[in-house]
Amino acid sequence: MHSALAYPDLVSLAAGFVDLDSLPVMETKCAIDAVLGEAWSGRRALQYGTTAGDHELRTHLLRLLDRTEGGQGWRSADVLPRLVVTNGSSQVLYLTLEALLDPGDLVIVETPTYFVFLGMAQTRGANVVGVATDDGGMRIDVLERTLESIEARGDLGRLKLIYTISEHANPSGVTLAADRRSRLVETVRTWSQRRGGPIYILEDAAYRGLTFEGEESPSVWSHDAAGDTVILARSFSKTLSPGLKLGWGIWPGELAEAVRDLKGNHDFGTSNFVQTVVSKLVGDGVYERHIEALKPVYRRKRDVMLESLDRYFGGFEGVSWTRPRGGLFVWLTMPEGLDSSIDGPFYQRCLEEGVLYVPGELAMADEPGPAPRNHARLCFGVGDERQLIEGTRRLATALGACLDLVVAGKEVV
Ligand SMILES: Cc1ncc(COP(=O)(O)O)c(C=O)c1O
Repeated sequence: MHSALAYPDLVSLAAGFVDLDSLPVMETKCAIDAVLGEAWSGRRALQYGTTAGDHELRTHLLRLLDRTEGGQGWRSADVLPRLVVTNGSSQVLYLTLEALLDPGDLVIVETPTYFVFLGMAQTRGANVVGVATDDGGMRIDVLERTLESIEARGDLGRLKLIYTISEHANPSGVTLAADRRSRLVETVRTWSQRRGGPIYILEDAAYRGLTFEGEESPSVWSHDAAGDTVILARSFSKTLSPGLKLGWGIWPGELAEAVRDLKGNHDFGTSNFVQTVVSKLVGDGVYERHIEALKPVYRRKRDVMLESLDRYFGGFEGVSWTRPRGGLFVWLTMPEGLDSSIDGPFYQRCLEEGVLYVPGELAMADEPGPAPRNHARLCFGVGDERQLIEGTRRLATALGACLDLVVAGKEVV
């Protein structure tokens, strides 16, 4: 905000906002009119609801889940009591940490990870350990080595949770490979037995649905037919509207109860009005049609950003970027030694050129350190085509100024 005021011509590739023009204003207005157009449904929507959430909405959500990943061995009737509607998927993440962790406990994340989750884990007093990723997401071989080293140092008893973002991750844009999903569940099951108590997987599927190229694989959650290992976090923020701030979670049985109690302490239920409106949008099929309409919009934006990166960054040695099949983010890797942190020369130079990004350093766990500083998260969600092209051009100009341009010495600032 400060930078935006100081540099009015700034192009922000930093904020993880969604496309403004495709937000469903008229569809939401129609749903609100319908809900308030009848005294009975209007009063129901304006009354308190239950802590777990609106029954009709939860039933719609299970039907959606069944349609997109049915046949995996789970039964709706078993899942319904474990499904809680939340204030965004952020609340699923926070409630999970609150229910599970004591100060000093361990959480494993993929590197890089969602920096807000790192903040939440820190607030709950957790120590966070990172596991390397590649273009198939979290590396299961590195996870296994990490678990072995945690056991060797006598800390396995303190490990409670493994957090992964399964689709088009924030910040990397990378998706967890299909064949790693069941392996992840099996590996964690084995290690839970070795630990003598549950280690849970928290699958953050905030970008599920926003896949504009290829099919989505069944979720990690769907490989846990016993329903005792994976917590699923889902959100309407990217596929409908972040302003509605609606999410939902499914927890294993014993945790679901604890989470409902905690949510009761927080707010005793998500806005009943918002849930009723969204239930109408889902029930009438508007939600799914809206997602289909979003896909070409984001595909086009992704293409514009990738074409701009090819054009402006193609000449730099040691620079690469991810090519997401969905979501909002591209992860830019610059030559080692380049410092992209907020106090570093690249960020300052980008401000002077008039472009903002999120420094990659913010998305790194403390362990195993030190965190690399040569990455940037770029968002193609909110900018228009001109801004995406211009923002990328400015980034490249700043990079050119920060690297030894003559390339002769290849020295990096
Ligand atoms: C990976 C990830 N998880 C969760 C969230 C939280 O989303 P919300 O609380 O709006 O559902 C975000 C938001 O950007 C995100 O990127």
